[in-house]
Amino acid sequence: MTKKIVIGNWKMNPVSFVEANKIYKDIVKNLPTLKKTEVVVCPPVVYLENLKKVSKKISLGVQNSSYVKSGAFTGELSAKMLSGVGAKYVILGHSERRSPAISGGENNELINKKVINAIAGGLIPVLCVGENVRDASLQYLGFIETQILECFEGVSKNALKKVIIAYEPIWAIGENATRSATPAEFLEISIFIKKILSDKYGAKNITELRIIYGGSVHPENALSFLMEGQADGFLPGRDSLKPKKFLEIIKIVEDN
Ligand code: PGA
Repeated sequence: MTKKIVIGNWKMNPVSFVEANKIYKDIVKNLPTLKKTEVVVCPPVVYLENLKKVSKKISLGVQNSSYVKSGAFTGELSAKMLSGVGAKYVILGHSERRSPAISGGENNELINKKVINAIAGGLIPVLCVGENVRDASLQYLGFIETQILECFEGVSKNALKKVIIAYEPIWAIGENATRSATPAEFLEISIFIKKILSDKYGAKNITELRIIYGGSVHPENALSFLMEGQADGFLPGRDSLKPKKFLEIIKIVEDN
């Protein structure tokens, strides 16, 4: 059975290793025995190696990796380097990295290269997709279809099996979110993505594909996403930095 997965995206937080270590140790210390759930924390990369020494119970990930293997790319880190220091997962295509105002303004073509390089370098991509607005004329479906098809361009059937998809509508993310998505909205997109990928790769190649939800995930709404939304897990941001809340989300996933 494929495990459910809870992936904490710490973003550019907290500001010191002392704090990061405290949050991480708090989570590890109170982590229940898990049989059906994998827990991942994606801290700022500078904390990764030290957090790795704390526990083997949690997998670590990073929030970005390069689209190339090595060379004259100032400031970049390759997938192989990151897996070499203990990362197992990489969040790719997050809306904050797609945003020109926040970071590089990454487009699907670049994210596609990152997905391919991540897999080749030994990382499991957590590919984020999601629309900016939900319009009544359903253009958001076309937007997500383009994100999926362009980000999976040239990705083989075997490589697909290594990818996790996170549906994170931009309007549901962070402090400025109007609301989280509803479980029904998540389920609609999850079925839609599976249809696109089964048309591309064949139905039998997507049976193990995990589609998780992100965007204002809290202990209060996690259960409904699992039950009504059939989510395979979550990508919480803010609540992944609050050990009590993160642990509550993990427990809800493990128990359901
Ligand atoms: P949030 O962030 O849970 O704080 O809304 C989610 C994300 O951006 O991955």
